[in-house]
Amino acid sequence: MRVRVLGSAAGGGCPQWNCACPVCRTGRPRLQDTVAVSAGGTSWWLINASPDIRAQILGFDALRPGPGARDTPVSGVLLTTAELDHTLGLLSLREAVRLTVFATPAVTEALDWPRRALSRYTDLDWRVLADDFEHDGLRIQRLTVGTKSPRYASTGDVSALRLTETRTGNSFVHATCLPAWTQAFDDFIRGADVVLLDGTFATENELTGTTGRPGTATSMGHLPIAESRRFLAGYPGTRFWFGHVNNTNPADAPDIAVDGLDVLRN
Ligand code: MLT
Ligand code: MN
Ligand code: ZN
Repeated sequence: MRVRVLGSAAGGGCPQWNCACPVCRTGRPRLQDTVAVSAGGTSWWLINASPDIRAQILGFDALRPGPGARDTPVSGVLLTTAELDHTLGLLSLREAVRLTVFATPAVTEALDWPRRALSRYTDLDWRVLADDFEHDGLRIQRLTVGTKSPRYASTGDVSALRLTETRTGNSFVHATCLPAWTQAFDDFIRGADVVLLDGTFATENELTGTTGRPGTATSMGHLPIAESRRFLAGYPGTRFWFGHVNNTNPADAPDIAVDGLDVLRN
Protein backbone atom coordinates (compact mmCIF):
# COMPACT_ATOMS: atom_id res chain seq x y z
CA MET A 1 0.00 0.00 0.00
CA ARG A 2 1.25 3.42 -0.83
CA VAL A 3 0.00 6.68 0.67
CA ARG A 4 1.44 9.94 -0.64
CA VAL A 5 0.72 13.44 0.64
CA LEU A 6 0.10 15.57 -2.47
CA GLY A 7 -0.73 18.65 -0.43
CA SER A 8 -0.17 19.40 3.24
CA ALA A 9 -1.78 22.84 3.57
CA ALA A 10 -5.17 24.00 4.77
CA GLY A 11 -7.39 26.17 2.57
CA GLY A 12 -5.42 28.86 0.76
CA GLY A 13 -2.18 26.89 0.68
CA CYS A 14 1.18 28.42 1.45
CA PRO A 15 1.88 31.00 0.29
CA GLN A 16 -1.73 32.14 0.04
CA TRP A 17 -2.10 34.38 -3.03
CA ASN A 18 -3.06 37.51 -1.07
CA CYS A 19 -1.10 36.99 2.14
CA ALA A 20 2.11 38.72 3.16
CA CYS A 21 2.32 37.14 6.63
CA PRO A 22 5.72 35.82 7.80
CA VAL A 23 4.77 32.17 7.13
CA CYS A 24 3.59 32.93 3.59
CA ARG A 25 6.65 35.08 2.89
CA THR A 26 9.30 32.75 4.24
CA GLY A 27 7.67 29.44 5.21
CA ARG A 28 7.69 26.13 3.37
CA PRO A 29 5.49 26.13 0.25
CA ARG A 30 2.51 23.79 0.59
CA LEU A 31 -0.30 22.81 -1.77
CA GLN A 32 -3.75 22.17 -0.33
CA ASP A 33 -4.87 19.03 1.50
CA THR A 34 -5.02 16.05 -0.87
CA VAL A 35 -3.65 12.53 -0.40
CA ALA A 36 -3.17 9.76 -2.98
CA VAL A 37 -3.65 6.12 -1.97
CA SER A 38 -3.11 2.89 -3.89
CA ALA A 39 -3.37 -0.79 -3.07
CA GLY A 40 -1.15 -2.44 -5.67
CA GLY A 41 0.15 0.70 -7.36
CA THR A 42 -1.80 0.63 -10.62
CA SER A 43 -5.03 2.30 -9.56
CA TRP A 44 -4.96 5.39 -7.32
CA TRP A 45 -7.60 7.08 -5.16
CA LEU A 46 -7.45 10.70 -4.18
CA ILE A 47 -8.63 11.66 -0.72
CA ASN A 48 -10.14 15.05 -1.53
CA ALA A 49 -9.60 17.14 -4.66
CA SER A 50 -7.98 20.44 -3.81
CA PRO A 51 -7.90 23.53 -6.06
CA ASP A 52 -4.25 22.55 -6.72
CA ILE A 53 -5.19 19.15 -8.13
CA ARG A 54 -3.73 19.56 -11.62
CA ALA A 55 -0.28 20.45 -10.31
CA GLN A 56 -0.55 17.71 -7.69
CA ILE A 57 -1.29 15.01 -10.25
CA LEU A 58 1.37 16.23 -12.67
CA GLY A 59 3.90 16.42 -9.84
CA PHE A 60 3.66 12.76 -8.86
CA ASP A 61 5.20 10.25 -11.32
CA ALA A 62 2.85 7.42 -10.27
CA LEU A 63 -0.12 9.46 -11.55
CA ARG A 64 1.28 10.05 -15.06
CA PRO A 65 -1.27 9.21 -17.74
CA GLY A 66 -0.93 6.21 -20.10
CA PRO A 67 -0.40 3.76 -21.68
CA GLY A 68 -3.46 4.65 -23.77
CA ALA A 69 -3.98 8.25 -24.85
CA ARG A 70 -6.60 8.95 -22.17
CA ASP A 71 -5.69 6.30 -19.62
CA THR A 72 -4.93 7.52 -16.11
CA PRO A 73 -4.09 5.71 -12.90
CA VAL A 74 -6.42 8.15 -11.10
CA SER A 75 -9.61 6.15 -10.53
CA GLY A 76 -11.53 8.59 -8.39
CA VAL A 77 -11.96 10.67 -5.29
CA LEU A 78 -13.04 10.01 -1.72
CA LEU A 79 -14.40 13.20 -0.15
CA THR A 80 -14.02 13.81 3.58
CA THR A 81 -15.87 17.15 3.55
CA ALA A 82 -17.63 19.46 1.09
CA GLU A 83 -15.29 22.35 1.96
CA LEU A 84 -13.94 24.28 -1.03
CA ASP A 85 -10.32 23.38 -0.26
CA HIS A 86 -11.32 19.71 -0.59
CA THR A 87 -13.69 19.89 -3.54
CA LEU A 88 -12.88 22.71 -5.98
CA GLY A 89 -10.50 20.36 -7.80
CA LEU A 90 -13.36 18.07 -8.80
CA LEU A 91 -14.28 20.39 -11.67
CA SER A 92 -10.67 20.29 -12.86
CA LEU A 93 -11.01 16.53 -13.31
CA ARG A 94 -13.80 16.96 -15.88
CA GLU A 95 -11.55 15.80 -18.74
CA ALA A 96 -11.58 12.28 -17.25
CA VAL A 97 -13.13 9.62 -19.48
CA ARG A 98 -14.77 8.29 -16.31
CA LEU A 99 -14.56 9.29 -12.70
CA THR A 100 -15.82 7.73 -9.48
CA VAL A 101 -16.53 9.94 -6.48
CA PHE A 102 -17.49 8.70 -3.01
CA ALA A 103 -19.28 11.17 -0.73
CA THR A 104 -21.70 11.08 2.17
CA PRO A 105 -25.34 12.11 1.51
CA ALA A 106 -24.76 15.45 3.32
CA VAL A 107 -21.64 16.23 1.27
CA THR A 108 -23.43 15.14 -1.91
CA GLU A 109 -26.30 17.54 -1.17
CA ALA A 110 -23.89 20.43 -0.57
CA LEU A 111 -22.18 19.67 -3.88
CA ASP A 112 -25.36 19.43 -5.92
CA TRP A 113 -24.32 22.01 -8.53
CA PRO A 114 -20.72 20.83 -9.12
CA ARG A 115 -21.92 17.23 -9.23
CA ARG A 116 -24.48 18.02 -11.90
CA ALA A 117 -21.96 20.14 -13.82
CA LEU A 118 -19.29 17.41 -13.71
CA SER A 119 -21.75 14.81 -14.98
CA ARG A 120 -22.06 16.79 -18.25
CA TYR A 121 -18.33 16.45 -18.93
CA THR A 122 -17.36 12.97 -17.78
CA ASP A 123 -18.89 9.56 -17.16
CA LEU A 124 -19.45 10.31 -13.48
CA ASP A 125 -20.09 7.47 -11.07
CA TRP A 126 -21.09 9.29 -7.86
CA ARG A 127 -21.49 6.84 -5.00
CA VAL A 128 -22.45 6.87 -1.35
CA LEU A 129 -19.44 6.82 0.96
CA ALA A 130 -20.71 4.05 3.21
CA ASP A 131 -19.41 3.32 6.70
CA ASP A 132 -17.61 0.10 5.79
CA PHE A 133 -17.10 -1.39 2.33
CA GLU A 134 -14.46 -2.89 0.06
CA HIS A 135 -13.33 -1.32 -3.17
CA ASP A 136 -10.32 -1.78 -5.46
CA GLY A 137 -8.19 -3.76 -3.01
CA LEU A 138 -9.06 -1.50 -0.10
CA ARG A 139 -11.37 -1.84 2.87
CA ILE A 140 -12.76 1.65 3.39
CA GLN A 141 -14.19 2.63 6.77
CA ARG A 142 -15.72 5.99 7.61
CA LEU A 143 -16.42 7.77 10.87
CA THR A 144 -18.37 11.01 11.21
CA VAL A 145 -16.14 13.27 13.30
CA GLY A 146 -17.98 16.56 12.73
CA THR A 147 -21.17 18.10 11.41
CA LYS A 148 -19.80 21.43 10.18
CA SER A 149 -21.26 22.67 6.88
CA PRO A 150 -19.18 24.78 4.53
CA ARG A 151 -20.09 28.49 4.61
CA TYR A 152 -21.69 28.22 1.14
CA ALA A 153 -24.01 25.32 2.05
CA SER A 154 -26.65 24.36 4.59
CA THR A 155 -25.58 20.72 4.81
CA GLY A 156 -22.31 18.89 5.20
CA ASP A 157 -20.41 16.62 7.50
CA VAL A 158 -16.83 15.72 8.24
CA SER A 159 -15.47 12.18 7.94
CA ALA A 160 -12.34 10.43 9.07
CA LEU A 161 -11.40 7.58 6.73
CA ARG A 162 -9.59 4.34 7.48
CA LEU A 163 -8.18 2.60 4.41
CA THR A 164 -6.88 -0.93 4.84
CA GLU A 165 -5.13 -2.82 2.06
CA THR A 166 -7.04 -6.09 2.00
CA ARG A 167 -4.00 -8.10 0.82
CA THR A 168 -1.60 -6.99 3.57
CA GLY A 169 -3.79 -5.56 6.32
CA ASN A 170 -1.77 -2.32 6.31
CA SER A 171 -3.95 0.59 7.28
CA PHE A 172 -3.96 4.35 7.03
CA VAL A 173 -6.30 6.81 8.72
CA HIS A 174 -7.02 10.24 7.26
CA ALA A 175 -8.38 12.75 9.79
CA THR A 176 -7.18 16.19 8.75
CA CYS A 177 -10.36 17.88 10.04
CA LEU A 178 -10.83 16.61 13.59
CA PRO A 179 -12.87 18.69 16.03
CA ALA A 180 -12.29 16.46 19.09
CA TRP A 181 -10.51 13.28 20.19
CA THR A 182 -13.49 11.10 21.13
CA GLN A 183 -13.82 7.49 22.28
CA ALA A 184 -15.23 6.67 18.82
CA PHE A 185 -12.13 8.16 17.21
CA ASP A 186 -9.92 6.20 19.59
CA ASP A 187 -11.67 2.99 18.53
CA PHE A 188 -11.46 4.00 14.86
CA ILE A 189 -7.68 4.53 14.79
CA ARG A 190 -6.72 1.68 17.13
CA GLY A 191 -4.13 -0.57 15.43
CA ALA A 192 -3.63 1.66 12.37
CA ASP A 193 -0.13 1.82 10.93
CA VAL A 194 -0.26 5.51 10.04
CA VAL A 195 -2.62 8.33 10.99
CA LEU A 196 -2.66 11.73 9.28
CA LEU A 197 -4.09 14.12 11.86
CA ASP A 198 -5.42 17.66 11.85
CA GLY A 199 -2.44 20.01 11.79
CA THR A 200 -4.40 23.16 10.93
CA PHE A 201 -3.42 25.01 14.07
CA ALA A 202 -0.59 24.50 16.53
CA THR A 203 -2.50 26.10 19.38
CA GLU A 204 -6.08 26.97 20.31
CA ASN A 205 -5.79 30.77 19.98
CA GLU A 206 -3.37 30.89 17.07
CA LEU A 207 -5.77 32.45 14.55
CA THR A 208 -6.66 35.43 16.75
CA GLY A 209 -3.08 35.86 17.95
CA THR A 210 -1.71 35.92 14.40
CA THR A 211 -4.42 37.65 12.37
CA GLY A 212 -6.71 39.34 14.92
CA ARG A 213 -9.63 37.39 13.45
CA PRO A 214 -12.03 35.87 16.00
CA GLY A 215 -12.42 32.11 16.54
CA THR A 216 -10.59 29.38 18.37
CA ALA A 217 -9.20 26.32 16.62
CA THR A 218 -11.77 23.94 18.10
CA SER A 219 -14.66 26.32 17.34
CA MET A 220 -13.59 26.02 13.69
CA GLY A 221 -13.57 22.21 13.88
CA HIS A 222 -9.82 21.79 14.21
CA LEU A 223 -8.32 20.29 17.35
CA PRO A 224 -4.94 22.02 17.71
CA ILE A 225 -1.73 20.01 17.56
CA ALA A 226 -0.90 20.92 21.18
CA GLU A 227 -4.08 19.09 22.27
CA SER A 228 -3.74 16.05 19.96
CA ARG A 229 -0.17 15.45 21.06
CA ARG A 230 -1.36 14.54 24.55
CA PHE A 231 -3.04 11.43 23.16
CA LEU A 232 -0.30 10.05 20.92
CA ALA A 233 1.62 8.09 23.56
CA GLY A 234 -1.43 5.83 23.89
CA TYR A 235 -0.76 4.35 20.43
CA PRO A 236 2.81 2.97 20.48
CA GLY A 237 2.49 1.03 17.21
CA THR A 238 1.13 3.92 15.17
CA ARG A 239 3.01 6.59 13.25
CA PHE A 240 1.31 10.00 13.43
CA TRP A 241 1.66 12.89 11.01
CA PHE A 242 -0.07 16.27 10.87
CA GLY A 243 -1.55 17.66 7.65
CA HIS A 244 -3.92 20.45 6.48
CA VAL A 245 -1.46 22.98 7.95
CA ASN A 246 -2.79 26.54 8.03
CA ASN A 247 -0.60 29.48 7.06
CA THR A 248 -0.88 30.82 10.61
CA ASN A 249 0.91 27.70 11.86
CA PRO A 250 4.71 28.04 11.99
CA ALA A 251 4.82 24.21 11.77
CA ASP A 252 8.35 23.56 12.90
CA ALA A 253 7.96 20.03 14.29
CA PRO A 254 9.41 16.98 12.46
CA ASP A 255 6.04 15.21 12.35
CA ILE A 256 4.36 17.94 10.28
CA ALA A 257 3.71 16.44 6.84
CA VAL A 258 5.22 18.04 3.75
CA ASP A 259 4.15 17.84 0.13
CA GLY A 260 5.50 14.75 -1.60
CA LEU A 261 5.82 12.71 1.59
CA ASP A 262 5.11 8.97 1.41
CA VAL A 263 3.53 8.32 4.79
CA LEU A 264 3.14 4.62 3.94
CA ARG A 265 5.06 2.65 1.34
CA ASN A 266 5.60 -1.09 1.25
C1 MLT B 1 -11.75 24.38 7.15
O1 MLT B 1 -10.88 23.52 7.03
O2 MLT B 1 -12.16 24.71 8.28
C2 MLT B 1 -12.31 25.05 5.95
O3 MLT B 1 -11.73 24.54 4.78
C3 MLT B 1 -12.21 26.51 6.08
C4 MLT B 1 -12.27 27.27 4.81
O4 MLT B 1 -11.35 27.15 3.98
O5 MLT B 1 -13.21 28.03 4.61
MN1 MN C 1 -9.98 23.15 5.15
ZN1 ZN D 1 -0.01 33.98 5.20
